[in-house]
Amino acid sequence: MTHYREIQVKRENILDTRELELPQPALAQGQVRLAIDKFALTANNVTYAVAGDMIGYWNFYPREDGWGVVPVWGIGEVVESAHPGIAVGERLYGFYPMASEVVLSFDSAESDTLMESTPHRQALPGTYNAYRRTAADHQFLQQMEAQRCIFFPLFATSYLLYDFLLDNALFGAGQVLVGSASSKTAYGMAKLLHGDASLNVRLVGLTSAGNLEFVESLGCYDSVICYGNEDQLDTSVPAAYVDMSGNAALTAAVHKAFGEQLKVSTAVGATHWQSFGGDVSSLPGPAPEMFFAPSQIEKRDAEWGRGEVLRRAGEATAELVQAVSDTVTIEQIDDVAAAASAWRDLVDNRVAPSRGLMVSL
Ligand SMILES: NC(=O)c1ccc[n+]([C@@H]2O[C@H](COP(=O)([O-])OP(=O)(O)OC[C@H]3O[C@@H](n4cnc5c(N)ncnc54)[C@H](OP(=O)(O)O)[C@@H]3O)[C@@H](O)[C@H]2O)c1
Repeated sequence: MTHYREIQVKRENILDTRELELPQPALAQGQVRLAIDKFALTANNVTYAVAGDMIGYWNFYPREDGWGVVPVWGIGEVVESAHPGIAVGERLYGFYPMASEVVLSFDSAESDTLMESTPHRQALPGTYNAYRRTAADHQFLQQMEAQRCIFFPLFATSYLLYDFLLDNALFGAGQVLVGSASSKTAYGMAKLLHGDASLNVRLVGLTSAGNLEFVESLGCYDSVICYGNEDQLDTSVPAAYVDMSGNAALTAAVHKAFGEQLKVSTAVGATHWQSFGGDVSSLPGPAPEMFFAPSQIEKRDAEWGRGEVLRRAGEATAELVQAVSDTVTIEQIDDVAAAASAWRDLVDNRVAPSRGLMVSL
C-alpha cells in the first residue's frame, strides 16, 4: 500500500508536532487525489491554529485525539481522478493540509473555480472551499506560484484594509498606526496607503527592536517605533490603529496614549499570539473591532458589482509582489522534519520577516 506524509499539530500546544506516514485512502466517485506540490508558511498559519477552535480552522481537515492539521495556502496537482470533469495534471491553488497529498471532493467542475463539497466543510467560509484552476489564470500568475502562495492571501487583505480605510475617509485620522508593522499583511497595506498620492496621511509602524531595521528599509512607514516606546507616538494628530499583533498590552498602550484622538481601532491579526486576548473592552477611545474581510467584499460587491473588489485586490497584489521581490528571500524546504521544525520556528517567532518559507513534502 502506498503512503503519504502529513504534519499534525497538537491543538492544545501548537509547538508540539508529529510527522506521520499514512495509508492512501481509495477515491470515491467525485473525488480527486492531489499531490501537494508546494505550500507557504507565514504567521497567518499560526493564527489559523491559535484561532482553530474559535473560527473553525481545525475543521477543514479534522483529526482525532487532540491533534489537528493546520491549513496552508498551496498548489496541488491532480494525480488521480474519479471525477469526469477534472483531469489528471490539472493544478489547483487553494487551502491544503500540511501534507504531501490530499483527497478533495467536488460536485460541479464547470467553473474555473472548483468548490470543495465534502459535507463537513460546507459550514466553513466559502473562500476556503474555493480551489482555483491555475490553467485559467494569466500566464504571469502561473509563473509565480511561490509568490502566490506566500503573498496573495495576505496582500489581498492588505488591499481590503486599504479600501476599508479609504471608504471611511480614514475615519478622520491624519496618521495610521500599524501594529506588527513587519508582517506582510501590515506592510502591504502601508505600501498601498503610502503610494496613494491622493492621501495626506502619515504611516507609523510599531515593531520589535529586532525588526526595526527591516521595517525602516521597507520605505513605506514615515516613522517606526519599537514596542515599549509608545510614549514617542505623536498624540496631537488623530490616529487610526490597524493591528496585526493582537497584543493586548500594545492595544492598551495605544488607546491610553490617544484616548479620544484615536478614531478607529481595527484588529486584524494575532502575530503576538502568546499575548493575545485580555480585556480590551473598557479602554479609552473607540472599541477595538475585528476586521472581517468578507464584509468589505460584500459591501463593495453591492456597490461596484460582484467580483470587482477582488479583481482590484488581485491587481494591487500582483503589483505589491513585484515591489517586494527584493525584500523577501524565498526558501525552499523539502523535508518533512525540516518543515515541522520551520513550523515550530514560526510559532516561536524565530523566522525573520525577510524570509519567505515554501514547503514541499
Ligand atoms: N483578518 C484577516 O482576514 C487576516 C488576513 C490575513 C492576515 N491576517 C493576520 O495578519 C497577521 C499577519 O500575518 P502575516 O502572515 O502577514 O505575518 P508575517 O509576515 O509572517 O509576520 C511576521 C511578523 O509577525 C511578528 N511575529 C510573528 N510571530 C511572532 C511571535 N510568535 N511572537 C511575536 N511576534 C511574532 C513579527 O513582527 P513584529 O516584530 O513587527 O511584531 C514578525 O516579523 C496574522 O495574525 C494573520 O492571521 C488576518
